[in-house]
Amino acid sequence: MSGKKHILLGVTGSIAAYKACDIIRCLQRQDVDVAVVMTQEAKNFITPLTLASLSRNRVYSEMFLKDFADWDIEHVSLAQRADLLLIAPATANIIGKIAHGIADDLLSCIAMTTRAPIVIAPAMNDGMYTNKIVQENMKKLHASGMHCVNPTKGLLACGTVGEGHLADTEVIVKKVCALLKNKYNM
Ligand SMILES: Cc1cc2nc3c(=O)[nH]c(=O)nc-3n(C[C@H](O)[C@H](O)[C@H](O)COP(=O)(O)O)c2cc1C
Repeated sequence: MSGKKHILLGVTGSIAAYKACDIIRCLQRQDVDVAVVMTQEAKNFITPLTLASLSRNRVYSEMFLKDFADWDIEHVSLAQRADLLLIAPATANIIGKIAHGIADDLLSCIAMTTRAPIVIAPAMNDGMYTNKIVQENMKKLHASGMHCVNPTKGLLACGTVGEGHLADTEVIVKKVCALLKNKYNM
């Protein structure tokens, strides 16, 4: 691989947020640098400390910084620095926001700003995932050139077996690596 690539990993408020740990490790084994952007709701499921420790990078989530010492418009600089934005797990909420151009937090603003490839790996209850509106939103993301790693059928947090289980880490990372290889000839 020539020149280390920078992956921005968006983590959202899904019960599958803990799987971001494994995704970080698996990406690092591919010799890529990973920095995490997490939504406020994701912090209900996993701590920034865990993600910062594993990624060995600062974890970003605030849109409006309180400290102006190192002033930076982060949704722009992070979006420009990223070679690829991966959102895993992606909630119905972030999918809906991106599909409709809503940019009301750091992650959705980055998704709106970046010119890098975007990979979305949804995870949610099967009722949510098969909901017509969510499916329409997924189609919109696909039509606008984003890449989706479809969830699988499996045991969901609610105890039922259905479609909405986050795709396996290896499948997500394989997709990311294929896109990096294609775009940057790695
Ligand atoms: C225990 C629990 C588990 C949840 N799991 C999911 C999930 O897997 N997928 C999803 O789309 N929403 C899930 N939600 C709902 C989201 O957390 C909620 O829609 C939230 O507003 C998402 O915010 P975010 O997209 O900004 O992270 C869950 C909520 C709770 C309380």
